[in-house]
Amino acid sequence: MEVIILSSPEEASEVAARLVARQVREKPESVLGLATGGTPCKLYQLLARMHRARGLDFSKVTTFNLDEYIGLDPSHPASYHRFMEENFFSNVNIARERIHIPDGLAHDVPAHCAAYEKAIHEAGNIDLQILGLGSDGHLGFNEPGSSLASRTRIKTLTERTRDDNARFFTDGQEVPHHVITMGLGTIMESRMCLLLAFGKGKAQAVAASVEGPVTASVPGSLLQFHPRAKVLIDTEAASLLTRANYYQWVYKNKPTWQIDL
Ligand code: F6R
Repeated sequence: MEVIILSSPEEASEVAARLVARQVREKPESVLGLATGGTPCKLYQLLARMHRARGLDFSKVTTFNLDEYIGLDPSHPASYHRFMEENFFSNVNIARERIHIPDGLAHDVPAHCAAYEKAIHEAGNIDLQILGLGSDGHLGFNEPGSSLASRTRIKTLTERTRDDNARFFTDGQEVPHHVITMGLGTIMESRMCLLLAFGKGKAQAVAASVEGPVTASVPGSLLQFHPRAKVLIDTEAASLLTRANYYQWVYKNKPTWQIDL
């Protein structure tokens, strides 16, 4: 796990955008795992700018989103289909047929989840997975207590996550209780994970994920077992880390042979 502490969410998003851009340039047919929510918005803006200004080409890229609410139509303003369309897909040249997002309206959810897993496998597995972190430590919508080996399936959101996400729903609209999410086992098969977390509200979950014991009670902690996980956080999200000074020193003094940014 490489912990990179940056001065602001903007700076962290710039580092993340450079990593994603490098992945796509080195392997134009990359398979990207994508997250929604407030955290990756700036990253998607920067990637769209790189596409417009510098011709970063997504035409051969395949994408798989982490999750979707059950019961929301893709056109619903709070659906992750709509989020991705507005924040990323409409601003770059990803081929429509290579975009995958779990279907919140699937009639047979277990069959849909199995097909989603199969599609990831047939695409050659995810090269780079972008992740946010729930204030309760969730990854994707794998809430605390999720099996560490879980695959794409239905999950029930905690009240805390429903409260956190209420900001994306207009007054009177209920945040769904159920979601389809990639499993922790699915996420762990990605070749590289980029976890982004910003702000004081994430500090506890970051500290537990990075420096706490690996436990299903904090799904983010499973990344300690990932061979190539980078944690990009701002100083507020890093505020409860006991080794923050060490991580900062390591990042500033990376030997040239180790620099991959
Ligand atoms: C979203 C997802 C979630 C979010 C997490 C943080 O696709 O899988 O794990 O990344 O809930 O959300 P924000 O970024 O809104 O704080």
